[in-house]
This record gives sequence, C-alpha cells and structure tokens, in this order.
Amino acid sequence: MTFQLSEQTATSKPDLYAQLTSQMRSLLAGERDLIANAANFSSLVFHALPDVNWAGFYFLKDGELVLGPFQGKPACIRIAIGKGVCGTAAEQRQTILVANVHDFPGHIACDNDSNSEVVVPLIAGERLLGVFDVDSPLLGRFDDEDADGLNRLVEILINASNGVS
Ligand code: SME
Repeated sequence: MTFQLSEQTATSKPDLYAQLTSQMRSLLAGERDLIANAANFSSLVFHALPDVNWAGFYFLKDGELVLGPFQGKPACIRIAIGKGVCGTAAEQRQTILVANVHDFPGHIACDNDSNSEVVVPLIAGERLLGVFDVDSPLLGRFDDEDADGLNRLVEILINASNGVS
C-alpha cells in the first residue's frame, strides 16, 4: 500500500481538519487492528499539522497509561492516572489544552522542545482506552479548533478499529 500524504491546501484551521478527517478515513479504511491504525494515525497527524514535535498514544493497561505508537523523540513509557497532562486528561476524561507546559503543575517533560500540548482522551462507550497527545515547540500552539478537530479524528480511529468499540 502506498499512501500519498496530500499537500495541505487548507486556508484555515477548520479547513485543514476537514481535509485531515477525509485523509484519515481513507488511511484507516480496510484495517481494524488498533495498533496498526494508531501507528498510521500518529504519523498522519505528525506530518499534517504544522509546528508539532511529538504526536502519539498512551493506552490504559492495568490501571496506568503505557506508551503506544507515536512519532517524535523517544518518550516516557508509563504515566500514572492523574499525573502530568496525559494522566489528568485520562482521569477527567476531558480534552486538555495547555498553552505553556511549564505552567502546568506536574507536567511530565519527555522532550525539552515541547512548550504547549493538547491531550485527547480515547473513550469507547463508557470505557477509557487511553489518550492521544500532541506536543509543539511553540507556546499556545493549540486552541479549541485543534481540540475539536483532534476529537473528530480520534472518533474515526475508535470507530475504525477492533477491540475498542
Ligand atoms: N507531557 C506529557 C507526557 C507525555 S510526552 O509529552 C510525550 C504529560 O505531561 O503527561
């Protein structure tokens, strides 16, 4: 399979996420393995969104978050629920936008280049599966449009994969 990463022609952020949503559907179509889909998911987001230095998953295993497929530098492997931005998003089951990670109490620094971050929980029905985390070297890189767009993308992943819905 060859997947051509389309050149982004979007003129606005909602437009960019609309294009990305359609690319993501095509990329995940025909495969239902969660890890394979999560790996391609993180690659597409990493390459399609500007100013991103890390994009990847932590999955809930035996009560803690464990590193899954990602793009970027090697990262912390295990994060307790309630710890860091990822553990807090998992505990609250809510998307968390952090404009400046250095101001977030308990932020876990995996890559010193990261200055802002967004974490989206993965929820299938009532079940918390893990989180999707995106980091940027820019301060205030992510806003509500990113949160909405990433939530839509995560929903595509959950619906496209086995063992999670
Ligand atoms: N910064 C995250 C840890 C994961 S890395 O950014 C890849 C946190 O505070 O939970």
